[in-house]
Amino acid sequence: MGVVIPLEDKSADHLIEPLMALVADDMDRVNTTILSRTGSEVTMIPEVANHLISSGGKRLRPILTLASAGLCGYAGAGHVKLAAAVEFMHTATLLHDDVVDESDMRRGKAAARMLWGNEASVLVGDFLLGQAFKMMVEVGSLPCLEVLSSAAVVIAEGEVMQLSAAKDTETTEEAYLAVIRAKTSALFAAACEVGPILAARSRAEIAACRDYGANLGIAFQLIDDALDYGGSSARLGKNTGDDFREGKITLPVVLSFRRGSTEERDFWRRTLERGEIADGDLEFALAAMKKRRALEDTIERARHYGAMARDALELFPASPWRHALHEAVEFAISRAH
Ligand code: IPE
Ligand code: IPE
Ligand code: MG
Ligand code: MG
Repeated sequence: MGVVIPLEDKSADHLIEPLMALVADDMDRVNTTILSRTGSEVTMIPEVANHLISSGGKRLRPILTLASAGLCGYAGAGHVKLAAAVEFMHTATLLHDDVVDESDMRRGKAAARMLWGNEASVLVGDFLLGQAFKMMVEVGSLPCLEVLSSAAVVIAEGEVMQLSAAKDTETTEEAYLAVIRAKTSALFAAACEVGPILAARSRAEIAACRDYGANLGIAFQLIDDALDYGGSSARLGKNTGDDFREGKITLPVVLSFRRGSTEERDFWRRTLERGEIADGDLEFALAAMKKRRALEDTIERARHYGAMARDALELFPASPWRHALHEAVEFAISRAH
């Protein structure tokens, strides 16, 4: 009772605006850095990279890096390059992820792999990852390098872990959570941890920022997985139903399978395990999810992690930064894109 389903029209954009306003000047610098760092004499590299980068994206992770530095009163310049590095890590994973997921659309345009092929997408992703590490080295903070390089390792582990769980309808909620902690939450956590490290804040404050990011990242992926069924392709800029066609086992499926009748379980096994998908199956999947309250409860789980993210920041005194970071949690949960 009382669960609000945000997978509909009302825009949540106003909830991220306070944070965007606070980091606006720094974000301009990040965007300039991002563009200048895609350059290469190998012309296909900037072509592919800029196709994806100029298509927008929410820039949520670099915003978080800038904001956690702001929350902690950082007065230097290192956060700009680290924020750009974080976005490059994210961009690289998107290029790779669309190959692995065989996705056709990204950020409202044809996925890079549809225009340049899988090989180019993977290799340009590697270039961006390399550039990310160069920028981290330029900033010169070994602890930040440690945090971000560990995240890179964990993200890759998460994507491989997901590959092993694909098509397995017996996947548990716990196993699903382990995947999203690794593939998504690890980068959010690292993005939020480097700010207080640069600002030389206490271990407790560094841990608090990290916990905020980690929990926000889990909430963010839970909502992404709900939107893949309940959202709109036009709003998301990527095709809904990708996870279904791919046989990806996300929480909406885990819950629907566990709660489903024998017939419903047979349906999930046929479509997701055996990949036998016919016209009307996505609609049937949605109806089954509705019957089993799977999307509502996925969002409910996201709210739980969102509350943990907010609580992590209670260590810090009230400030416009903390308030805006609280609102960003609401954005992650209520967003439609
Ligand atoms: C997409 O991330 C990948 C996930 C972790 C779900 P975003 O939704 O942040 O993608 P962009 O950067 O805004 O396009
Ligand atoms: C996010 O998972 C993967 C990464 C962390 C790169 P998804 O596969 O659900 O992301 P989308 O839906 O393609 O953006
Ligand atoms: Mg994907
Ligand atoms: Mg997704």
